[in-house]
Amino acid sequence: MTGNPLGLYIHWPYCTRLCPYCDFNIYRQRGKDEALFQALLEDINWWANEIVPRPLTSLSFGGGTPSLLSPEQVAQIITLCRKKFGFIDSAEIGMEANPTDAEAGKLQAFADAGINRLSLGIQSFDNDVLKFLGRNHNAREARRAIEKAQNIFDNTSFDLIYATPDQTPKHWRRELETALSFNTPHISLYQLTVEPGTAFEKAVKRGTWSPLPDEKEATLYAMAQDICAKAGLSGYEISNLAKPGYESQHNKLYWLSHDFIGIGPGAHSRVTLQAQRMAAETILHPRDYAQELPPQRFFMEALTREDQITEFLLMGLRLKQGLDLARYKNLAGKDLPAKPRDQLIKDGLARIDNHHFALTAKGRLLLNTIVLELMD
Ligand SMILES: C[S@@+](CC[C@H](N)C(=O)[O-])C[C@H]1O[C@@H](n2cnc3c(N)ncnc32)[C@H](O)[C@@H]1O
Ligand code: SF4
Repeated sequence: MTGNPLGLYIHWPYCTRLCPYCDFNIYRQRGKDEALFQALLEDINWWANEIVPRPLTSLSFGGGTPSLLSPEQVAQIITLCRKKFGFIDSAEIGMEANPTDAEAGKLQAFADAGINRLSLGIQSFDNDVLKFLGRNHNAREARRAIEKAQNIFDNTSFDLIYATPDQTPKHWRRELETALSFNTPHISLYQLTVEPGTAFEKAVKRGTWSPLPDEKEATLYAMAQDICAKAGLSGYEISNLAKPGYESQHNKLYWLSHDFIGIGPGAHSRVTLQAQRMAAETILHPRDYAQELPPQRFFMEALTREDQITEFLLMGLRLKQGLDLARYKNLAGKDLPAKPRDQLIKDGLARIDNHHFALTAKGRLLLNTIVLELMD
């Protein structure tokens, strides 16, 4: 890839049902919200004037549930992005979709609209777990959606959630074996997190159930890495595994601290304007968002050098390949501090390989603490 990559993210915040674990910026779908859709189109135009537009390396529809958009709306957004920015030849145009039959029925139309990567929120192949997670699909629909997606798209992925209360290694192995039986080129495995403000947090506070202890979570994590590696899927990032060449190009922009524009309620942007790295956040509520005009929807500020270094470390060290030491030096104006660096290597938590500083699998579990040590 040449030049400074640029991606664009579209946040569609609506879901037909809100899952009790989810703390994304989400709202119950109550109608089509044409006003929000129009606002997204305005924003694409606005950003194309704000920065010097260059061909997009990726476009990503996330949410919420962007598969609730109509294929015509998706086509309209892709067409506008092509007109205003253009795409590099190998651009990834990805979408998250829920596996309910209603949405699986639209997959071919999404492909015809220009989507070339599809990621399904499967979460589990076990009906009891799906019920616990409050999902509005069952295991049969999950399997059918994967098969259907793989018949249409070359580049597919799905999400699973593990470390649900009482999950045993045997149960997780069965889930993984089912997952791997589809031979999907990419999967995301998310450890269940009890997020503040969610229905799950209230349930845990009431004592309805307890999260799995850390050691058990770590066992399930290591197991998954091992089983998936044997099936040819490399854990290239903490929660993401792929066959060679199928890593998520859009998410890599985040992990590599490249430029991305985030459009839609609550979306974040990082863009370089006149050699200054800027951060933008947007209004959270879709109604307020649609009532404003850009630039009032965007709160933009320059990132300090320290903020940039923290982000570079926090994001880059999620990747198995680690972070580029030359880029670190360029950003920080000095080398990675030798004392914590050497101690981490000595403790088996990090290594230097091919001019990259990377955490080992053990180190990645301690990411936040390690970044604090490196920032001292
Ligand atoms: C924004 S959701 C989009 C997917 C789509 N809306 C769906 O649910 O099918 C992205 C993924 O984050 C994961 N996720 C969200 N909240 C989580 C939590 N608290 N713990 C673990 N995984 C979570 C789920 O696997 C979900 O599929
Ligand atoms: S997990 Fe997906 S469907 Fe469930 S609330 Fe979050 S974004 Fe919506």
